[in-house]
Amino acid sequence: MEKAKIQELIEIAIKQLDYSYVPYSHFHVGAALLAQNGTIYGGCNIENAAYGPTNCAERTAFFKAVSEGVKEFTAICVVGGMNKELTEYAPPCGVCRQVMMEFCNPKEFEIILAVDKEHYEVFLLKDLLPLGFGPGNLEEK
Ligand code: THU
Repeated sequence: MEKAKIQELIEIAIKQLDYSYVPYSHFHVGAALLAQNGTIYGGCNIENAAYGPTNCAERTAFFKAVSEGVKEFTAICVVGGMNKELTEYAPPCGVCRQVMMEFCNPKEFEIILAVDKEHYEVFLLKDLLPLGFGPGNLEEK
């Protein structure tokens, strides 16, 4: 992906940090999900007093898109840090990687981890979720 597009996603992901609802952890996470149709869905983490219902930023972005009928994706950018301070990468949790596996080709889907617009790395889903279980595993052979 072009650097300019990556930087656009980073900027959008960082803006999402302001929307994070994190009264318990104070750990803000922002995501920007690029659909194949060009639309970018922002997402933030949303915590809950019962802890378990907490939704990660990545899944917020995916569920916004899927709930609007969009199911094909190119890349997601994720940023995060305590009190919005971005000092290191905030890699997606296992549950979020599994949600990516449901909708994305692991050999092509790109996960951009960033601390700012100049400091980022691009990973493929297949490398962050090796031997992942996906819809293909349930197809009759
Ligand atoms: N979190 C995310 O939003 N994405 C991840 O992939 C990892 C964790 C959130 C959940 C919780 O609100 C906070 O980070 C601390 O775990």
